[in-house]
Amino acid sequence: MDSKELRSLFLNYFQEKGHKIVASSSLIPDDDTVLFTTAGMQQFAPYLSSQKNVLEKFQTRHLCSCQKCFRTDDIEEIGDDTHQTFFEMLGNWSIGQDQSGYFKEGAIEYALDFLVNKLGLAKDKFHITIFKGNSFIPKDEEAKKIWERHGITYFHEFGEADNFWGPVSNVGPCGPCSEIHYDRGEEYGCKDCGPNCDYCKRFVEIWNLVFMEYFKNEKGEYEKLKQTNIDTGIGFERLLAILNKENSAYETDLFSDLIKEIEKHAALKYKDDKIAYRIIADHLRGSSFLIGENILPSNTERGYILRRLLRRIIRYARIIDLDLNSIDRLIKVIILKYHHIYPELNQENIVNIFNIEKQKFARTLEKGLKEIEKLTEITPRQAFFLYQTFGFPIEMIKEEANKKGIEIDEKGFKEELKKHQEISRKGAEKKFGKNASEKEIKLHTATHLMHQALRDVLGESVQQMGSSINNERLRFDFSYTKKLSQEQIKEIEDIVNQRIKSGFKVIKEEMPLEKALATGALAFFKEKYKEVVNVYTIKNNNEIYSKEICAGPHIKSSENLGTFKILKESSSGANTRRIRAVIN
Ligand code: GLY
Repeated sequence: MDSKELRSLFLNYFQEKGHKIVASSSLIPDDDTVLFTTAGMQQFAPYLSSQKNVLEKFQTRHLCSCQKCFRTDDIEEIGDDTHQTFFEMLGNWSIGQDQSGYFKEGAIEYALDFLVNKLGLAKDKFHITIFKGNSFIPKDEEAKKIWERHGITYFHEFGEADNFWGPVSNVGPCGPCSEIHYDRGEEYGCKDCGPNCDYCKRFVEIWNLVFMEYFKNEKGEYEKLKQTNIDTGIGFERLLAILNKENSAYETDLFSDLIKEIEKHAALKYKDDKIAYRIIADHLRGSSFLIGENILPSNTERGYILRRLLRRIIRYARIIDLDLNSIDRLIKVIILKYHHIYPELNQENIVNIFNIEKQKFARTLEKGLKEIEKLTEITPRQAFFLYQTFGFPIEMIKEEANKKGIEIDEKGFKEELKKHQEISRKGAEKKFGKNASEKEIKLHTATHLMHQALRDVLGESVQQMGSSINNERLRFDFSYTKKLSQEQIKEIEDIVNQRIKSGFKVIKEEMPLEKALATGALAFFKEKYKEVVNVYTIKNNNEIYSKEICAGPHIKSSENLGTFKILKESSSGANTRRIRAVIN
């Protein structure tokens, strides 16, 4: 069975059972505390927690989808049998209940019927995991009984770490789950083990059924939801591999055509470097999908992940002598595989972005090599500096150092890296955590004022390219081709301060996106907006200063906003300028 067939079998099965097929949502989730979409339920979270009405939106409680997902935590593990950055997830949902909604029994029946009767998998290979309970939720005896009634004999109990799902971010719907693991047999691992074995990959999790009855609130407490829901997830790649008796997704049609194409353009003598082939294939596919979301390589957040993938492709291409002039042919294979469901993949765009990054990387490598030339020893800290500043992968630093007879303390390097990752993790928690402080809220409003002032002084062609706020400063990237003069900077500061002094109110209105756009509200990330958006208008008695679609929050009036000051104006990439500013 190939990937196309399995996708349609799943979606058609649930459609026949009265489910509505919902298209995959973007890899960039609505919840901006999360970097990427990692599960099919994310687009349904407001319906699962009953903040929004599922019937109004979908006219049914029963939904199914094939969702694009992206994971970044295991990038270094890519190349083994089980890890990928981009992957797809199949899922079915029953959201809330009236007579038409189903819960545990219905979800279990559908899962068994699909796997056994549609896909022909043997039921006696299924091992089921059950939530064993904790201090606030009892053991899931009910699910166990249902499985037993349906002829299942192998059960394994696990706690929160393995058998309680969600929420995706700090807060949201969640619940105990029951997973179907498939036993591939002793030849794949230990003689006598079970699901979640630490030593082998004999058991593969194929379907996770979440009985979503709880909501984790901001205090970290679990509240019972007003409704019960079913939320399920199948790792598409994994299931495809099992059905085809393959060891890994890399052996399925999702990757095999691409790996064959890579082989054509690489040196024959490196043909057996399976890991390098898989890394290149995974990263080509993953970066194509990120570019499909309009993400560009950069040094922060999503752009940084893309840059890292692209640079790792270049690094591993060197290892197997892959001719990167063939990039268009490699990307074409990916497009052919996915274009019918993901038309956002555009070959020309992906190839262009790849080639620009290749040139940039070549320039930084050149600088880094010059730096290495000057050194007579490379301490772990220097190795880390080369890695961080020049984007030099450690393997390349080692190669270059070895040429000069210098040894690298790789363990020391890894320790430096770990320290840095810890610092970035804390930074990311701050960025993506839910704590918006008073100062940050003020800076948010100051950003809107400054944005309008920039357009007043530099012209309406100024477009927001990015914005980041912490409790000390605002940072704002915008499209503009020239350095700003001191006079322009002063004028922008004056406009903002004069507006603060003259007093204003910030009005928040919720409205459909189309209406918001029709009223002239500024919007620069159209593809990311929901159907109903918040529009923030900053106005005094006589004049509207600014109107933007924005998730907020904002202060209510200009009182105590403080004095606005631009600290720095600099370039932030081609035709993009960056301002750092504070309020005191
Ligand atoms: N939301 C269930 C899963 O992704 O496994």
